[in-house]
Amino acid sequence: MAGAGPVGTHVSLPIRRFDAIVIGAGGAGMRASLQLAEMGLSVAVLSKVFPTRSHTVAAQGGIGASLGNMSEDHRLWHMYDTVKGSDWLGDQDAIEFMCRMAPQVVYELEHYGMPFDRNPDGTLYQRPFGGHSANFGEKSIQRACAAADRTGHAMLHTLYQQNVRAHTQFFVEWMALDLVRDAEGDVLGVTALEMETGEMMVLQAKATLFATGGAGRIFAASTNAFINTGDGLGMAARAGIPLEDMEFWQFHPTGVAGAGVLITEGVRGEGGILLNCNGERFMERYAPNLKDLASRDVVSRSMDQEIKEGRGCGPHKDYVLLKLDHLGPEVIMKRLPSIREIAINFANVDPIKEPIPVVPTIHYQMGGIPTNMYGQVIAPRDGDPNVVVPGFYAIGECACVSVHGANRLGTNSLLDLLVFGRAAGSFIGEQRLERRQHKDLPRDAADASMARLARLDASTGGERVADVAHTLRRTMQAHCGVFRNQQLLSEGVTKIMELEQRVKRVAIDDKSKTFNTARVEALELDNLIETAKASIVSAEARRESRATATASITSRCG
Ligand code: FUM
Repeated sequence: MAGAGPVGTHVSLPIRRFDAIVIGAGGAGMRASLQLAEMGLSVAVLSKVFPTRSHTVAAQGGIGASLGNMSEDHRLWHMYDTVKGSDWLGDQDAIEFMCRMAPQVVYELEHYGMPFDRNPDGTLYQRPFGGHSANFGEKSIQRACAAADRTGHAMLHTLYQQNVRAHTQFFVEWMALDLVRDAEGDVLGVTALEMETGEMMVLQAKATLFATGGAGRIFAASTNAFINTGDGLGMAARAGIPLEDMEFWQFHPTGVAGAGVLITEGVRGEGGILLNCNGERFMERYAPNLKDLASRDVVSRSMDQEIKEGRGCGPHKDYVLLKLDHLGPEVIMKRLPSIREIAINFANVDPIKEPIPVVPTIHYQMGGIPTNMYGQVIAPRDGDPNVVVPGFYAIGECACVSVHGANRLGTNSLLDLLVFGRAAGSFIGEQRLERRQHKDLPRDAADASMARLARLDASTGGERVADVAHTLRRTMQAHCGVFRNQQLLSEGVTKIMELEQRVKRVAIDDKSKTFNTARVEALELDNLIETAKASIVSAEARRESRATATASITSRCG
């Protein structure tokens, strides 16, 4: 059960002990913590923001599951779409498990109280989505279970309420700083900063589970929240754990031009279409079968091609249009109410009357901390490439169990959170006797984090955090974008390596402890640079165009 320090350790900071700690309160973290709490373990969830403001809240379109409520469906068809969508790089055992578990985790969520949209007969409504097909690619199918265009929002509220009921303990506005590992390489917890007071603490656990989400903020144009700074990836990399598949970044076809805010694929699922400046529905040329609902890499690359060939819209011909007025106000207000709000607020157009200007925008990271299907982190040790790191788990976007390969199928991110959050929670719960006692913390458990904070607190006249972060984002956007080639990537690697030196010289003017956001942003920058470095170095090292002619993610032209 939960306890407090300093029993049996030499660490000078306050210590709190739990059976399990979960870093991140998005869908993955809260699904895992719920599983753990329901099994009677003491569980703490640490989050930089209030749990229901985690980035899962921005997920709009739905959760893929072959319920077959709209027409016949099959888990093998879902599996086929996922493997094909991944450009054949996904782990097929893990994909089979995920697609098999999908109906169960959706019904569990329904029973937890999730307000899904329904059909007149009471079954869950399912909408079409990009890359979702019947009978192994034959025709489009309706597989996405949704709560209007606020599916992630509804999911987070449902999971938060269930966690409160199950007595999960939340540490809100706390930032995890570094992993604590002992001499055997076991993970014993994290150091963490309470943002309100600026005080540090060690959170010790028998199982430490990362659910820290993605790192889309390494790019200038992103659908990701400002909190998505790759904190888990940075902590893992600093603790000597290699990251996997970091070159694979997904562009979502429809971000609001100039703002990046997500316009769900559900818009095209409900019948929205993409047009170029000639009013042509150009996806009919690129993907005659699935058209606007082809997979994301196909649609993003086609849009980019239209713009490059001069058929973009607007004064600079640098976006295409997403038309949905033909759906009528009733469908828009019922199925896509948030999209209307977003379009009015961020693009100054009312989609009931006018099309929305859209461009492909960074959306999702397929790579991450390598894990198996139980969320156990895998790292090389003593010449063996596949050794479980005792006590360490990762799930959701920060993890790479490799169900998404080189390109994730839409709606499989929410599914991934539920399936692998639940699987990791169950596994940890069942293995609780594996480590009956807390191990002794090493003497230097908090040294690295304390040194990072001490350096910032003593810093004067160095680089500004905002300048370095801005340059990092622009460099990644320019050198690691939709189309990549050898020269761009090599130059990008050099620039990111130079930036790494600048990160070491950042200084902050504000030295106060309470709610010092400058300090937090400087700490986040350490994670951004680790993620950017891993992404661009991996991209430069991959000597192929993955997703072949249709790649928007990792293509190498020349
Ligand atoms: O388009 C969307 O609603 C996004 C869904 C997803 O990334 O799975």
